[in-house]
Amino acid sequence: MSGETPKKLRDTFKKKLEAAKNLEALEEVRLDFLGKKGNITANLKLLSTYPIDVRKELGAELNKLRMAIIDDLTKKKEGLEKEVLLEKIAGEFEDLTLPTLREDKGCVHPITQVKSELANIFSKMNFTVEEGPEIETDFNNFTALNIHDSHPARQSHDTFYINERDENSLPFLLRTHMSTVQIRTMKRDKKPMRMISMGRCYRSDYDSTHTPMFHQIEGLVIGPNITMGNLKWCLQNFLSIFFEVEKVSMRLRPSYFPFTEPSAEVDIGCKRTKENLMIDDYDEWLEILGCGMVHPNVLRSCDIDPEEFQGFAFGCGIDRLAMLKYGIPDLRTFFETDKRWLEHYGFKSLDVPGFMLGEKA
Ligand code: DAH
Repeated sequence: MSGETPKKLRDTFKKKLEAAKNLEALEEVRLDFLGKKGNITANLKLLSTYPIDVRKELGAELNKLRMAIIDDLTKKKEGLEKEVLLEKIAGEFEDLTLPTLREDKGCVHPITQVKSELANIFSKMNFTVEEGPEIETDFNNFTALNIHDSHPARQSHDTFYINERDENSLPFLLRTHMSTVQIRTMKRDKKPMRMISMGRCYRSDYDSTHTPMFHQIEGLVIGPNITMGNLKWCLQNFLSIFFEVEKVSMRLRPSYFPFTEPSAEVDIGCKRTKENLMIDDYDEWLEILGCGMVHPNVLRSCDIDPEEFQGFAFGCGIDRLAMLKYGIPDLRTFFETDKRWLEHYGFKSLDVPGFMLGEKA
C-alpha cells in the first residue's frame, strides 16, 4: 500500500472510480484514498523518510494527485446524485385526474352580498358611499331630521339610549335609522351631491321581521331643480336592476315622514306562489321602502338654502331586500351565526374588487 508511485496510485484510483456505481461505493473509494488510513494519506506520511530532494518532487506530485482525486470524486458524486434524483422522479406518479381536496373557505353572508350589490348599482349611478358612527347624537338622529323633542315619531323609534351625554347634555343613542348619515354628509360636503349609506341600526324590537339590530340603506340626492320625477326614476331603475327584471312595477303611496315633504311609501308589484316570490309579474303590492322630498327644515339644519337646492331621499331595509331577493323567510336567522344556514344561504366569494361579491354558494 505504501511507497507506490503517483502514476500507479492514479491508475488504481481511476479503475476504482470507474467501478463505483453508486454513492456508497464512491464513498468507499474516497476513504481508500483520502481517508485517515487512505493511500494518499499514507504516502504523504512516508515523505519524511525520503531525502530532501526526492521529498520535494514527490510531495508536489502527490499533492497534485490529491487535488485531482478530490476533483474527480466531486464530479462523480454530482453525477450519481443526479441519477438517483431522476430515478426517484421517474418512479413517482401524480394522478392529475383525482378530485382536489375540499377546502373550507367560508361563505359571504347575504347581507354582505346585498350591500355589495347595492354599492355596485348606486356607484354606477354616480352616488358616493358614505359612512357614519353607530353611536349618534340626539341632534343627528332626530332634531336635524325635523323630529323635535315632543315629536310623536320619537316614540315609534324604540330607541336604545346610552348613559353618556353629548355637548347639549342629551344622552347619546344607538342610531335608529341611517338618515343620520345624510345629515353628516350634507353638513360636510359640497352641493350638489348624491350619496348612499349602508349600515347597522338599532331599535328595541323582536319578531320574525324585526331584530334589535338591522341594516338599512339610505339614499340622498341634493341639487337644483330636483323633483319627485327624479326620485321615481331613480327608485325604479335601482329596484329593476336589483331584482333583475326589465322594469319593476312600482307605485308611490302618500305617507308621512317628518324629514320629507311630500313623503311616500313605495310598493312593488309581485306575485306569490307557495315557494316563490316573483317580481316580474304581479297580482299584489308589497311595501318596500320610504321616500320623499327632503323637508326644507332638514335642509336648513344642514345650512342649505331650500330656495337654492332641493333633494330627495329614501330609506330601505337591507335585510328585507335580501329576504325578498334570496327567499329567506325569517329575519332572526340572519344573526344566529349558524354555519349550516350560512352554507345554505351564503355566497361563494369571487374576490373581485369593485364587482359583486359572490355567486350563490
Ligand atoms: N328613516 C326612515 C326609517 O327608518 C326611512 C326613510 C324614509 C328614510 C323616508 C328616508 C325617507 O330618507 O325619505 O323609518
